Amino acid sequence: MENTLLELQDVTKEFIHGEDTLRILKSLQLTVEAGERVAIVGASGAGKSTLLHLLGGLDTPTTGSIRFEGRDLAKLSSNALAEYRAKKVGFVFQFHHLLPAFTALENVMIPALIQRITIPEARRKSTEALDRVGLSHRITHRPGQLSGGEQQRVAIARAIVMEPRLLLADEPTGNLDSITGMAVHDLLLKLNSDLNMTMIVVTHNHDLAAMFSREVTMADGQIKEDKRRDENAV
Ligand SMILES: Nc1ncnc2c1ncn2[C@@H]1O[C@H](COP(=O)(O)OP(=O)(O)OP(=O)(O)O)[C@@H](O)[C@H]1O
Ligand SMILES: [Mg+2]
Repeated sequence: MENTLLELQDVTKEFIHGEDTLRILKSLQLTVEAGERVAIVGASGAGKSTLLHLLGGLDTPTTGSIRFEGRDLAKLSSNALAEYRAKKVGFVFQFHHLLPAFTALENVMIPALIQRITIPEARRKSTEALDRVGLSHRITHRPGQLSGGEQQRVAIARAIVMEPRLLLADEPTGNLDSITGMAVHDLLLKLNSDLNMTMIVVTHNHDLAAMFSREVTMADGQIKEDKRRDENAV
């Protein structure tokens, strides 16, 4: 389809562990359209994080292909793959991985500075990203001076500062209480519509998954169910 952002064909992932070959992802087929919001659910060990790592270009499939905007990630040069990871994809993890000695603003600026964007431009983009996540009033705070939900919002600002086409989040609310977690999910959904950013979010929380227009259930390395809700369901 014209508007396809991601296309997985027969994606398999194996890990060699001692004498054993562990087949963790088994012939996955998945197509994600630009702008879609997809929740991935499934039991612990189902392969959700492994899948997200492959989508983010952090690891490679054993067999099969992952196409992003029609290009096979496995065929990108190392420079093009580095650019994919830095500019096209944003990653949010369960634990925020913010650098404790730096302020919120500095933490968000780091990916932009790595991309050799000038300091004033990085500051402008980072201030805007922090504004988008509702933290304009906390930019000079260090992570230790922020609440858990605020820390996760800084991590989201860091993930979106380069305005990626795809945001991948691995249990972004797993470490938060349910109300704070719901606020973080609301924020992700808002970013999806404001920035037209495609979003794939792994969550253990079925109530939160129900807020997404598409819910993919994984079990034992396979997609067991791929459910779409109507557009208005949010
Ligand atoms: N590098 C590795 N080497 C060997 N086995 C691995 C490796 N990475 C993951 N696995 C195994 O792959 C399986 C799937 O792991 P994965 O982290 O993708 O699960 P998950 O669905 O994200 O689970 P959770 O909900 O607990 O985060 C697990 O059984 C895990 O032990
Ligand atoms: Mg996981």
